[in-house]
Amino acid sequence: MTDKHSPLKGKHCVLGITGSIAAYKACTLIRLLSKAGVEVQVVITPAGKEFITPLTLSTLTRRPVVSEFFDRRDGSWHSHVDLGLWADFMIIAPATAATIGKMAHGIADNMLLTTYLSMKAPTFVAPAMDLDMYAHPATQANLETLRKRGVGIIEAGSGELASGLVGKGRMEEPERIFNYLENHFATCQRLAGKRVLITAGPTRERIDPVRYIGNFSTGKMGFALAEACAEAGAEVELVAGPVSLTTNSPLIHRTDVESAAEMYEAAAAKFAHCDAAILCAAVADFTPAVKADQKLKREGDGLTLHLQPTTDIAAALGQAKRQGQKLVGFALETNDELDHARAKLKKKNLDFIVLNSLRDKGAGFAFDTNKITILSADDCVEFSLKPKTEVARDITDRLCALFD
Ligand code: C5P
Repeated sequence: MTDKHSPLKGKHCVLGITGSIAAYKACTLIRLLSKAGVEVQVVITPAGKEFITPLTLSTLTRRPVVSEFFDRRDGSWHSHVDLGLWADFMIIAPATAATIGKMAHGIADNMLLTTYLSMKAPTFVAPAMDLDMYAHPATQANLETLRKRGVGIIEAGSGELASGLVGKGRMEEPERIFNYLENHFATCQRLAGKRVLITAGPTRERIDPVRYIGNFSTGKMGFALAEACAEAGAEVELVAGPVSLTTNSPLIHRTDVESAAEMYEAAAAKFAHCDAAILCAAVADFTPAVKADQKLKREGDGLTLHLQPTTDIAAALGQAKRQGQKLVGFALETNDELDHARAKLKKKNLDFIVLNSLRDKGAGFAFDTNKITILSADDCVEFSLKPKTEVARDITDRLCALFD
């Protein structure tokens, strides 16, 4: 990507620098960001100043470096809240194990951490530490916590470390960090002006006032998709079955429903005004033909329920699909996965289908990870096991490509 067309142009960046030997690489990162038209405000931890001087950094950024809560010369207050509102993104590079741990646990004992906790904009970290510290379960768990909260982790690279050891822990090179940020913001805008319908979670089919037929869906995949599409600039119509999840983005408009019939009503009405739909919900295929008004009593030998089919929302929207509208479905399978997914792709008139198999470890209901294969009429792409937030971005990227 050239400077002229950088998606970062005109953005405000808070660059956090912590106490690592890799702090010197922040100078190159500042140069790259400035050249792309980014205004950089450095916030450095006390330990960071042991590795690189504020004078170097303020010369490169043409802004005073922020480190303390107060300016020692005139006692003026540095507002971390204002920085949190000013920034379009925050990147902490290098990020030490200590800072990552404090971020994960909300420990705000310096200006950089208070700024992070006040940050309204997307945040990224580029870890830098010795290989054993990086591999330690505590560090990995802290990184996972941050990842789940939506922080972009720019994984450390492998190579020679300051300790003389060789392994994973080197802060990623500034050029690659810069590319990561550019790619992030390039994809960010790709659904701007689009409206995307997403169905998520299970449905409940009432048997009587206290019982229902349901399934194990938690809605995690659908909610992650809603955030990913909103992150890409779309207005999202999220039709959610009964789940205990919340949304973050103001671009997500949520409608809560209970049954397959209610989900169909809401989805069909909204799809007419949408550019795309991702049908992620685990919709019941059958519902009791009669819903008892009173609680059924334990009588006789047993209970026979007569179930009737629900409307297949995906198939109905597939029929209603207008020229230019895109439709994405899911297939959760336990056997003959590819064949079943291909059949659904065709039958429901989908543009692509996301297949996950319950045979894959870590994939399916309730997990925070998923392993998917995306199938379309033309291709079949297998992805590795990833956190659902990243899987959601992969699916969103594919949807963006349909509009490109
Ligand atoms: O046929 P199957 O239920 O496996 O198809 C899965 C896909 O169809 C998913 O995208 C799911 O959200 C959608 N679906 C639907 N309405 C139904 C059943 C499934 O939209 N009644």
